[in-house]
Amino acid sequence: MTVLPFGATLGIVGGGQLGRMSAMAAARLGFRVHVLTPDIDSPACEVASSATIGDYDDEVALRDFAEHVDAVTFEFENVSAHGLRILESIKPVRPAGAVLEISQDRIAEKRRLSEIGAALAPWREVPDAAALAAAAEALDYRLILKTTRFGYDGKGQFRIRDAEEFAALGTDLPYPLVAEGIVDFEREISVMVARGLDGDVRCFDVTENRHRNGILDLSLAPAPIPPALAAQAQSMARHIAESLDLIGIMGVEMFVDARGGLLINEIAPRPHNSGHWTMNACLVDQFEMHVRAVLGLPLPEATRHSDAVMKNLIGPDDMALCDAVLRMPGLALHLYGKDEARPGRKMGHVNAIFPRGALPGPFGIAAVLGPLVEPVVSEDI
Ligand SMILES: Nc1ncnc2c1ncn2[C@@H]1O[C@H](COP(=O)(O)OP(=O)(O)O)[C@@H](O)[C@H]1O
Ligand SMILES: [Mg+2]
Repeated sequence: MTVLPFGATLGIVGGGQLGRMSAMAAARLGFRVHVLTPDIDSPACEVASSATIGDYDDEVALRDFAEHVDAVTFEFENVSAHGLRILESIKPVRPAGAVLEISQDRIAEKRRLSEIGAALAPWREVPDAAALAAAAEALDYRLILKTTRFGYDGKGQFRIRDAEEFAALGTDLPYPLVAEGIVDFEREISVMVARGLDGDVRCFDVTENRHRNGILDLSLAPAPIPPALAAQAQSMARHIAESLDLIGIMGVEMFVDARGGLLINEIAPRPHNSGHWTMNACLVDQFEMHVRAVLGLPLPEATRHSDAVMKNLIGPDDMALCDAVLRMPGLALHLYGKDEARPGRKMGHVNAIFPRGALPGPFGIAAVLGPLVEPVVSEDI
């Protein structure tokens, strides 16, 4: 069976907000959703038909989960290779376990991306202290060290700007690491690319992403970049999706460097925070596109009917503004149902949409988002 009949059950590994919004998209199309999560009080469980509560590497839980579903997809990428094999032995897994294994490990990811011709920031494998010294020297003491696995929202990263900071690093580091040269990027962009069972590929418009404290803060769609560069970014995303034989959606994070060239930062073979703007600015959003792809349904055009700004709501400070947001015109509020607003935790997001071609500049964005953004003091928000 490749194309699933309506009423079939989609299995989603992971209970977070990406699973929640995928489940809502699946439900809209008439599918049931069964979630695998260790925690019944999770954003996805609140909107799913049923769940298996267990750890992602618990063989019994994985089997129970797979028996309940018709196809498996992910919002949480870090299932072990053994766990992926178990799932794949029972039900169709989309994207395939091999794609997840690449995105789980920054070194495997960089190797594969290089093989398929993607340009990357200079990088070195750092298995131990000796390799670190050599890598730091090779990268001129301007580098970011990243844990090879389990990093997200800038966690597990150490930034070194000069030899002095390198000397102060200490010896107690969580090897293996990867060292990357710091890119003096002009901006960060991403492309959401989806590929269906029939090989059809769709790219949403390129998004510009601005981070704060290592966490995505604002996305602007479309990214204010020359059309030729946007086309190049989309064609690179398509090339990566096709080379990996992706089924589903994938976020491709990129840097635009100081000379206007593109470097690939990382890939995430699942819906992605930088695609949340599609929920209000496209007829079919990233979640429905993903659900359609993994269920073997046709992929519609990824057309953007409006320009959009997405603002993440992070931690207690942003949550305290929700009452105000509900009273503000022109904002669509999306909350994930998390009860505890810990600092740095993604609680929800807000989308503002504008007529196509009318994406405002920084002052206009600040006016629409009101108390959600710091006052604009320069062009550089
Ligand atoms: N080589 C680099 N040069 C400059 N900035 C970087 C580099 N790598 C990461 N960053 C910054 O840190 C952010 C998070 O890094 P990323 O590798 O995407 O990890 P995560 O898995 O936490 O998203 C990036 O979006 C970017 O702002
Ligand atoms: Mg990232």
